[in-house]
Amino acid sequence: MAIEIIGTGKAVPPRRVSNDDLAARIDTSDEWIRSHTGIGSRHIADEHTSCSDLALEASKNALAMVAGFSGENREERDRASAKAAKSIDIIILGTTTPDFFGCPSTACIVQDKIGADRAGAMDIVAGCTGFVYGLETAAGLLNISKERKRALIIGSETLSKITDWNDRGTCVLFGDGAGAAVIEKTTAPSEGQQRRGLIRSMICSDGSGSESLLFRRGGSRNPFKAGETLEKGIVVEMNGQEVYNFAVKAVTDTVAALMEAEGITADDIAWIIPHQANARIVQAARKRLKIPEEKFFLNIEEYANTSAATIPIALDELNRNGQLKKGDMIMTVGFGAGLTYGGNIIIW
Ligand code: COA
Repeated sequence: MAIEIIGTGKAVPPRRVSNDDLAARIDTSDEWIRSHTGIGSRHIADEHTSCSDLALEASKNALAMVAGFSGENREERDRASAKAAKSIDIIILGTTTPDFFGCPSTACIVQDKIGADRAGAMDIVAGCTGFVYGLETAAGLLNISKERKRALIIGSETLSKITDWNDRGTCVLFGDGAGAAVIEKTTAPSEGQQRRGLIRSMICSDGSGSESLLFRRGGSRNPFKAGETLEKGIVVEMNGQEVYNFAVKAVTDTVAALMEAEGITADDIAWIIPHQANARIVQAARKRLKIPEEKFFLNIEEYANTSAATIPIALDELNRNGQLKKGDMIMTVGFGAGLTYGGNIIIW
């Protein structure tokens, strides 16, 4: 069997917040943020928009592509996506900012809103590696069942809702957004034919680093008590240096391991889509790997770190810009809370 990507979509909130906008509120500067992270702006959801709202938009765009729709008219897009949604067997949504903690899953909310009547749906908690994990999990679920043919994988985040906007060490890094991809199980290429679709994945973890990126309060380890007031709300806490060191090694090791396992060199790869957390992380790994800069697709300057959404957003941008040619080899590489890391190799 082959597992091919047949549709991609993204959604980012219209409100764009520049580095200068942040510098007007807290002690930071455009120069510091750009030189330390490569980030120029981020898109921030309004108070009424949640994770499932962005996921829904990205999913509709991906599903409409599956139905052959490519115009601007939203009603026509919705009709096209509703039709394609009926063919989805599995929905997997990676997020660290679900609509509700614990349950229900955000994937179930999306399942209902897109009208994917026959799909199973679940969330994956793998931090910013959520899409990499989701793709491999969905492919596995399609491969083990004769009946299942199509899956929708989503990375969606509203990190602005769990960011401490007075902590300059974290708030400058994050943005909101969602990306989605539809995969389909097709017949395996016959002998002599080029391979297609998802050909290899690595999904790894190192839980010893679990405290370097976490929500400390609210779970069963540190539940809220009746009457308790929270000084900062529920906010993400991060040890930036620890995560940075882990991330550079994770990207370097994952790319090297995937290349070795597949018996390929950087020359064989058209695009590497790294998780967009900090352009310096990508540069440091790239130098260690000795891979040319132009192989890495970066859009962090516009969107900042949208966690599980960065890779599918980047994939959709490459796809819609016509930058992916049939037969191109693409590698994704992600890392994030957990700590988790991994990557996929896809032949377009
Ligand atoms: N604006 C201005 N100054 C800032 C700042 C900001 N937004 N954030 C931190 N600083 C200051 C610090 O207070 C410190 O000042 P000091 O030297 O007077 O104490 C100085 O800049 C250096 O801080 P440091 O934390 O050492 O900076 P850094 O070069 O390590 O960069 C990160 C910080 C967060 C950008 C970097 O560690 C990082 O990207 N880590 C990984 C984060 C990540 O990828 N998270 C998501 C994983 S999925």
